[in-house]
Amino acid sequence: MDTKNVEIYEKLAKKYDLATSIVSFGIEKIWRKIFVKKIKKYINNGILLDVASATGDMAKEMNFDKMYLLDPSEQMNKIAGEKLKNKNVKFIEDYAETFKCPEKVDLITAFMAVRNFDNLEKGVKNLNKCLKIGGYFAIVELTRSNSIFFKLSMFYMTKIVPLIGGIITGEFEAYRKFPKMIKNISDEDILKNFNNYEIVKKQRLFPPMATLIIMRKNG
Ligand SMILES: C[S@@+](CC[C@H](N)C(=O)[O-])C[C@H]1O[C@@H](n2cnc3c(N)ncnc32)[C@H](O)[C@@H]1O
Repeated sequence: MDTKNVEIYEKLAKKYDLATSIVSFGIEKIWRKIFVKKIKKYINNGILLDVASATGDMAKEMNFDKMYLLDPSEQMNKIAGEKLKNKNVKFIEDYAETFKCPEKVDLITAFMAVRNFDNLEKGVKNLNKCLKIGGYFAIVELTRSNSIFFKLSMFYMTKIVPLIGGIITGEFEAYRKFPKMIKNISDEDILKNFNNYEIVKKQRLFPPMATLIIMRKNG
């Protein structure tokens, strides 16, 4: 497993929320609200597994009765733990590709998560084992398109974000590695790993840099 990108998140954890909110101009928060609203049309409670859970914002918004947070970063999990003190949450400090599923869940959420996997196919395969038949897998991810928005956003993410992120967090070295972590993936790169799923919702978010996908697992 390539642990380099996790080392970066370890360093950024304390200022991650502030830095994300500033560099995304608040768009990340709007996308999260839209995501949660769309998911709740299909499933409103049960057991949730949030993958690449970072500082726990997804679990906070979803607020299911029982939630597993899966992230290899100890520092991220620590911050999430403080944020979710009064919730029924369990932390799994591991990678999507290698974690052992504690019990089958009703919903897996992956918000800005799958591009961080070292091996997307292996990660999805392992997560798939943890989802009940009829359960939902919900994704928001930055995905490639031909639009000028996407090209501008890539320029912004690879040239400007490392600079602003460095200034906010003081972690210039960590942010210098950031452009390499922005994988240029397409909707198809994601969807080809979900053969046993039915897409119930797929939409391009605005600005058109990311895609929202909600799928139901078939028997
Ligand atoms: C951009 S953040 C995810 C944002 C988060 N999902 C949210 O809702 O705010 C990326 C996270 O992915 C985690 N990560 C990196 N590699 C991973 C892997 N192979 N499996 C699971 N999580 C991983 C990092 O530790 C980091 O916390």
